[in-house]
Amino acid sequence: MKFKSSYLLPCQMALMVAMGAGSALPVWSADLKLGAKLFTSECSECHTMKEGKNKKGPSIYGVLGRKAATISDYDYSSAIRSSNIVWSEAKLDEYITSPAKMVPGGKMKYEGLRDAAKRDDLIKYLKFFSE
Ligand code: HEC
Repeated sequence: MKFKSSYLLPCQMALMVAMGAGSALPVWSADLKLGAKLFTSECSECHTMKEGKNKKGPSIYGVLGRKAATISDYDYSSAIRSSNIVWSEAKLDEYITSPAKMVPGGKMKYEGLRDAAKRDDLIKYLKFFSE
């Protein structure tokens, strides 16, 4: 199996094992690998894909399909709490493009990812950890 373990952080490995994938590791597509790299370079300063582990930002494990601002032990801005967003792929795309534009007054201090193809890969990765 072609599988570059260097793209996987140890906690993600643990997650995959916890998800019962240990015996039959999924073959990660090229997009997913790029998504993982993008997550590390763009988002991991503030987020983890580990359930329950918040950093500067909330854990975004399982974010797809979840209502915004619903991690109970994370202190969200009132802007995002009153946004009524439900995180679909389209909404994530909009947010990652420009968090300040979509949620003015929110506290995600990230300038945005302008490259649509990169956002697409990243969202595939977020989706992988939401199913
Ligand atoms: C400099 C820190 C920082 C970076 C970098 C960052 N975020 Fe965030 N993010 C935050 C903070 C802080 C919040 C909480 C926003 C609020 O309360 O208004 C947040 C919120 C979010 C949410 C909403 C979560 C929820 O529970 O509703 C998503 C989704 C998200 N970020 C995705 C990303 C992705 C994907 C990236 C990488 C492209 C990223 N963030 C990069 C700090 C960051």
